[in-house]
Amino acid sequence: MTDFTRVADAAEIPDPGKTLVEVAGEMIALFHVEGRYYALDDICTHDGGPLADGELRDHKIACPRHGAKFDIRTGAALTMPAVRATRAHDVKVEGDGVWVRLRDDATADGPAAHASSTPASTPASAAASAGGSPAATTAAATTGTPPTGALSEDSIREMLKDVKDPELFVNIVDLGLVYGVTLEPAADAPGKQKIGIDMTMTSPACPAGPQLIGDTKRVLAAHADVAAVEVRIVMDPPWTPDRMTEAARDQLGIF
Ligand code: FES
Repeated sequence: MTDFTRVADAAEIPDPGKTLVEVAGEMIALFHVEGRYYALDDICTHDGGPLADGELRDHKIACPRHGAKFDIRTGAALTMPAVRATRAHDVKVEGDGVWVRLRDDATADGPAAHASSTPASTPASAAASAGGSPAATTAAATTGTPPTGALSEDSIREMLKDVKDPELFVNIVDLGLVYGVTLEPAADAPGKQKIGIDMTMTSPACPAGPQLIGDTKRVLAAHADVAAVEVRIVMDPPWTPDRMTEAARDQLGIF
């Protein structure tokens, strides 16, 4: 853990307000809300969006890239597509300045100190636990009896419910990642079908992308009537959380 660093004049940040500061070479989003100051990494845990550029409302900051919201008091991820907390740091007001001390812990569980606008020599205690789902590192596509039955767009979407996002544990159909399904007779395999899937990702640099593509091909190719599977990645229109089904929202605890 670093020492406290003076990062701003307390008077220069409106209430409510935010600014971007640098502490020990790291970019930190500094917030002032209802008389207290808070500091978070300027990094959205979904895909690195700059939180200091987002919209601040009450104690929530919305990532400007895909809309994930974080609690500025704890760093907790509050809404999709972010599921992990961003780091929250200690803040104090001393003299006429705002001071920030970086926390080392990679998993934020809320800062030890949040400073009020009233100068104090010791930081107030205001820790709170951060939310967020545990990150998964393993493939989540299920394996089982090879699918059978007539192929159709509906049956293919059902099959694709076996392909799950490895971080969210929600299938790609309910997440709204499957934009289109096409079937056409395979020219080189009489009686079989060539399947095309138009699929998007929650962000262009989604780390789960290669796994989701591979699992999609594997699940569909297991059907006896499938000769080939082509997965096309489509980023326009971009994915937004409102593409999720009610089932996905329930699973993620989003209401
Ligand atoms: S980078 Fe922040 S929501 Fe996607």
